[in-house]
Amino acid sequence: MSLIIATFAALALCFAPAPGAAAISARRPLQGNDTLVSAQGKFELGLFSPAGSSDGRFYLGIWYKNIPGQTVVWVGNRATPLSGVASAELRVSADDGNLELVGPTAASASPVVVWSSSLSSSSSPGSNNTAEIRDNGNLVLLDGSNSSNVLWQSFDHPTDTLVPDAWLGENKLTGEYQVLTSWRNAQDPAPGMFTDTVDPNGTSEFFYMWNQSRTYWRSGVWTGRFFATMPEATRNVLFNQTYVETPAYRRVSNALYNSTTITRMVLELTGQTKQYIWVPATQNWQLFWAAPTMQCDVYALCGAFGVCDLSSQPSCRCPPGLAPTSERDWTVSDWSGGCRRSAPLWCPYNGSTTDGFVVLPNVKLPDDSLAMGAVQSKAECESACQKSCSCEAYTFSTGRCAVWHGELRNLQQLYTDSGVSRSDVYLRLSATGLRDLHNTVSKGGRLSWLVLVMTLVGVAALGASVILAWRILLARRRRLTNQKGSSLTVYSYGDLHAATNNFSERLGGGGFGSVYRGILKEQKGGKTAQVQVAVKKLESLGGRQGDKQFRTEVSTLGLIQHVNLVRLLGFCSSGDEKMLVYEYMPRGSLDGYLFDGGACPSWRDRYCIMIGVARGLAYLHHGCHECIIHCDIKPENILLDEDMSPRIADFGMAKLVGRDFSRALTTMRGTIGYLAPEWIFGQPISAKADVYSFGMVLFELISGRRNSEGYSEVRHAAGTVRRGSSTFFPVWAAGKVVEGEVGTVADLRLRGDVMPEELERVCKVACWCIQDEEAQRPTMVQVVQALEGTVHVHTPPVLRALQHLVMLT
Ligand SMILES: *[C@@H]1O[C@H](CO)[C@@H](O)[C@H](O)[C@H]1NC(C)=O
Ligand SMILES: *[C@@H]1O[C@H](CO)[C@@H](O)[C@H](O)[C@H]1NC(C)=O
Ligand SMILES: *[C@@H]1O[C@H](CO)[C@@H](O)[C@H](O)[C@H]1NC(C)=O
Ligand SMILES: *[C@@H]1O[C@H](CO)[C@@H](O)[C@H](O)[C@H]1NC(C)=O
Ligand SMILES: *[C@@H]1O[C@H](CO)[C@@H](O)[C@H](O)[C@H]1NC(C)=O
Ligand SMILES: *[C@@H]1O[C@H](CO)[C@@H](O)[C@H](O)[C@H]1NC(C)=O
Ligand SMILES: *[C@@H]1O[C@H](CO)[C@@H](O)[C@H](O)[C@H]1NC(C)=O
Ligand SMILES: *[C@@H]1O[C@H](CO)[C@@H](O)[C@H](O)[C@H]1NC(C)=O
Repeated sequence: MSLIIATFAALALCFAPAPGAAAISARRPLQGNDTLVSAQGKFELGLFSPAGSSDGRFYLGIWYKNIPGQTVVWVGNRATPLSGVASAELRVSADDGNLELVGPTAASASPVVVWSSSLSSSSSPGSNNTAEIRDNGNLVLLDGSNSSNVLWQSFDHPTDTLVPDAWLGENKLTGEYQVLTSWRNAQDPAPGMFTDTVDPNGTSEFFYMWNQSRTYWRSGVWTGRFFATMPEATRNVLFNQTYVETPAYRRVSNALYNSTTITRMVLELTGQTKQYIWVPATQNWQLFWAAPTMQCDVYALCGAFGVCDLSSQPSCRCPPGLAPTSERDWTVSDWSGGCRRSAPLWCPYNGSTTDGFVVLPNVKLPDDSLAMGAVQSKAECESACQKSCSCEAYTFSTGRCAVWHGELRNLQQLYTDSGVSRSDVYLRLSATGLRDLHNTVSKGGRLSWLVLVMTLVGVAALGASVILAWRILLARRRRLTNQKGSSLTVYSYGDLHAATNNFSERLGGGGFGSVYRGILKEQKGGKTAQVQVAVKKLESLGGRQGDKQFRTEVSTLGLIQHVNLVRLLGFCSSGDEKMLVYEYMPRGSLDGYLFDGGACPSWRDRYCIMIGVARGLAYLHHGCHECIIHCDIKPENILLDEDMSPRIADFGMAKLVGRDFSRALTTMRGTIGYLAPEWIFGQPISAKADVYSFGMVLFELISGRRNSEGYSEVRHAAGTVRRGSSTFFPVWAAGKVVEGEVGTVADLRLRGDVMPEELERVCKVACWCIQDEEAQRPTMVQVVQALEGTVHVHTPPVLRALQHLVMLT
């Protein structure tokens, strides 16, 4: 990195700003490689070729002068590239005073006009007009007879980026809209599929749209202070977002509080709008905000038949039997072409098709289905689809049949569903397509037979080491079945009685009952293997409450999967006996590991635990079909596996909240000391309650002690150790963060062996998480970004009401 900076410094010395060249006029055009730089040297205008492209396309663009790695914020000739720069020229036309770009194109070797400001002569352009680039990144064409008269400006024609001072909206006089339109792909600035535009119907709301027809995200209306669904984007410390409507225009823009901040909002290829901040210390653009938060919420991101799957990177993949329509486009992050069948459908008009179907389990149903009311069974549904040549897919669930004609869009892989209806889509494939698919699958099958045979040979030869390999194989298989169907095993009381040796080895317990260690014998491929499990036996005294917890846990955890959530393998429900069977976590729960007498995990381990728990929670809140609020995040409910990777456990109190209702009114639950204030005051809670509890856990991971224990400040001044009065650790630590003395808050047992930047980041995040105001707390997705260091974290406000909480606890 320092090498790059040095190189740029050297370059800056070589190309000291050319004196004079401050404006473009009819007599002084911008030629070839020349650039125009704004007065304070912030922005630069010139011709560029997109990074990574090698086919000689050149565009007129504006980028940051002082940021390494060209970041383009505006493009003139988006869809009409030049094929060379040597004879290219940006000039003020001697005929009509318009700003125009001339040069060779792929179609014409002699220079032609590829882009122009296109003002009619009635708006008085004259040959004395001049053009200049301003320090806010605005390219302006000024009236030759009165230079305070702006005839044309790039801010009226944004591309995919909004810089501070620029605007989005509508010019009511001309009817022109200022919209953001994504690039087509990473190397082509031509207009892509996604746009960000103000409501054409005249409200203050902004829409993100696919192909200018489908809205996939809405800002909500302007409340006077912020857009309803994005307060966190508006009420921040960097800029003041305002929406203004006058008889001439309506527009939204961001004004910086401090003009030295460099920030931009860009509509990405993924259809998400992201706000970035330039961090000089790291020489990086850091993500600050994104909408929609989840990439798969972008409509039809993966094109026709493409499946958006959050668990893969990039998120688009093709269903079995289909392949990307254009591999090349997919490699440059343009998925809009989607997928196509490897073998075409076969559909003779006499209705005797041999086409069949492949199942796509548990996906979000694509739009534009056609309901088949009269159809009663899955077989009828299938044949209804088969009979129509244009039918591409069908679904049959809860007695209803629906079919799709034409391309399927917006397929999304789900990892959970509400348990009410499973949404499997049956996609039509030709007989050839199915055969090919079957062949690849059975080839895989043969492969695993081979593994099996080799394993058996190995058993004879190597004995013990092979048992290990076998276990790994088993583990992998189990994971596969789980991913497909999230299937839970139903155990009998006898099974679990035997597995736990009459419930003899108690691992722990609580109000709900006790947890016992057990060993289950699993039959796989004719072989028996032993699997360690943890069996939670719910207290039958709990009566209806216990019963409810049991059902909550099975219905939430049974359907979801994430590396940071404990895995439920099955359950037993016989009469009053209710038991849950989990994978066994050899290191137990975090409290035993962290607090007094524990092993004192290293900073590295603590940091990994923090990020892991944050990821698990982010998945619960945002990754599932419905938002799941855990409601009882505390060290006791965070388990550690062999390699210290954390898993969130105990979903007995979890609350499912539909996507449309972000709040739930609940009776008080959870654990004092980790409860958010809104809970204590009896208000409905949202996922932000978990964020609060997580913040409290962060503080405990930092200090290695329970927050509730109180904290005695220890100072090492001139070799002496003085103990201050006992305070609530988060309050004390938050004070240190505000004072900039983060270094003093870490667990003393670590003896200063911490990563200072990480510690500072964690402290700040923790302070943000435990803000009294829900709106002030970050979302778990933001927490993950902040902990991972992809977002810069600001110094949090001083905590106000926490002291009251101390009294309450
Ligand atoms: C523009 O720059 C490129 C690379 O820096 C160079 O090869 C080319 O000759 C330059 N063209 C002109 C017209 O200066
Ligand atoms: C441009 O400026 C020159 C000198 O100031 C003047 O003579 C000429 O009339 C102007 N042309 C136009 C079109 O305004
Ligand atoms: C120049 O234009 C500005 C704004 O359009 C106007 O206020 C000003 O009076 C004009 N000056 C002259 C000399 O015409
Ligand atoms: C605009 O209003 C019309 C009529 O009320 C409605 O049909 C249309 O969906 C609205 N458009 C948007 C983008 O909301
Ligand atoms: C986008 O919309 C246009 C017309 O509005 C339509 O012709 C085109 O097929 C659409 N593109 C896709 C990929 O559906
Ligand atoms: C934000 O901008 C609006 C309109 O320009 C102004 O009224 C308001 O005072 C500004 N807010 C802050 C905090 O500067
Ligand atoms: C703006 O930020 C810079 C760098 O962080 C700082 O030095 C300067 O004092 C700030 N200016 C104001 C007006 O806050
Ligand atoms: C339908 O047409 C195909 C080929 O055109 C033929 O092979 C098949 O026998 C026909 N089936 C019936 C039921 O007529």
